[in-house]
Amino acid sequence: MYDLDHPLKFGIVRLCKEGEFMKLLVTGGAGFIGSNFVHLARKERPDWQITVIDKLNYAGNKASLKEVWEEIEFIEGDICNQELIDGLVSKNDLVVHFAAESHNDNSLNDPWPFVESNLIGTYRILEAVRKHGKKLHHISTDEVYGDLELDDPVKFTEHTRYNPSSPYSSTKAGSDMLVLAWVRSFGIHATISNCSNNYGPRQHVEKMIPRQITNILSGEKLKLYGKGENVRDWIHVDDHNSAVITIIEKGKSGEVYLIGADGEKNNIEVFNMILNMMGKDETWLEHVKDRPGHDLRYAIDNTKLINELGWRPKYTDFAAGLQATIDWYTNNEDWWKPLKAETEAKYKKIGQ
Ligand code: NAD
Ligand code: TYD
Repeated sequence: MYDLDHPLKFGIVRLCKEGEFMKLLVTGGAGFIGSNFVHLARKERPDWQITVIDKLNYAGNKASLKEVWEEIEFIEGDICNQELIDGLVSKNDLVVHFAAESHNDNSLNDPWPFVESNLIGTYRILEAVRKHGKKLHHISTDEVYGDLELDDPVKFTEHTRYNPSSPYSSTKAGSDMLVLAWVRSFGIHATISNCSNNYGPRQHVEKMIPRQITNILSGEKLKLYGKGENVRDWIHVDDHNSAVITIIEKGKSGEVYLIGADGEKNNIEVFNMILNMMGKDETWLEHVKDRPGHDLRYAIDNTKLINELGWRPKYTDFAAGLQATIDWYTNNEDWWKPLKAETEAKYKKIGQ
């Protein structure tokens, strides 16, 4: 008996048609990218019905959804809870899966929550999607590919070999592999996107850009790991999420898409921009211990997304996006202040 719906055997399947009414289950929707996705989706696709599931770990924050709170359903819960996930997946059409432990430095201190949420959590979602015949967009990272040399003309493509460095990136790599296996062996309809480093509002203060901005706002120095020559390929979070909407509507089930906006910069360059924009000189820069196994460079080749799906980034002026992000943290102390002391105490323990 053939499975007529199997994406590898019969034709092209898309997760959603443009303009179609959809019930979305957004996992990790109280985190940085997930909450910004909910804001963007409410604005750009007001007909979509959105349920968020989030366990509200240290990075999950209901306040990140306050402007849309009345327009969505919010469930506080763990994606590893099969019964809960099963019920929620059965009631929705599409799962957009952001939930994960997301910070490399934390994964070096304690890998277990990464194995649990990123691998077991994704497995639970896949099983529910398979059982109820629903669709899935899996959010992943370019860090699954490891790193590049500084002077290498090559960038990551959808064909680059997986070569993750940290417990974070290896559990994300494993979660991607689970999704691909469920597509091939069980015929589920799913797409995967691997995006580069995001910046923008509502990002936890442990991450590089918000940490430095809120350090200055707290009268503390910027903390640069090692020599600071590491390169990240920065993309505004709204560009990441507009690409996710494009993939959901135009992408082909079973395909992987890289998301990036040609935003390569080394860390010193970004630190200097923050210093300048916030009116400080280089005496505010402190060199701290480097991260073990620190990936040198990430860089995304976004040709497939642009040529096949017609996506374009909007926020390509990094200086303008960074200034807007500085303004957001300056104007939203209530959001980040409660997180700052605990985050810095964690860093202090490991000399960073
Ligand atoms: P984040 O840490 O800000 O948010 C993650 C959210 O997931 C939090 O609200 C947390 O409470 C929730 N969560 C974690 N484990 C859960 C569980 N077991 N059950 C339910 N909820 C759980 O992370 P982020 O930066 O918003 O990243 C979101 C996704 O995007 C992740 O999958 C990450 O790998 C991916 N990604 C991030 C970046 C980046 O630059 N931040 C880049 C590319 C891809
Ligand atoms: P981060 O925001 O943790 O993202 P990722 O590790 O996923 O790329 O770090 C971005 C870069 O900034 C990375 O090269 C590590 C560096 N970094 C610092 O120099 N100082 C800091 O305080 C932090 C958090 C990161």
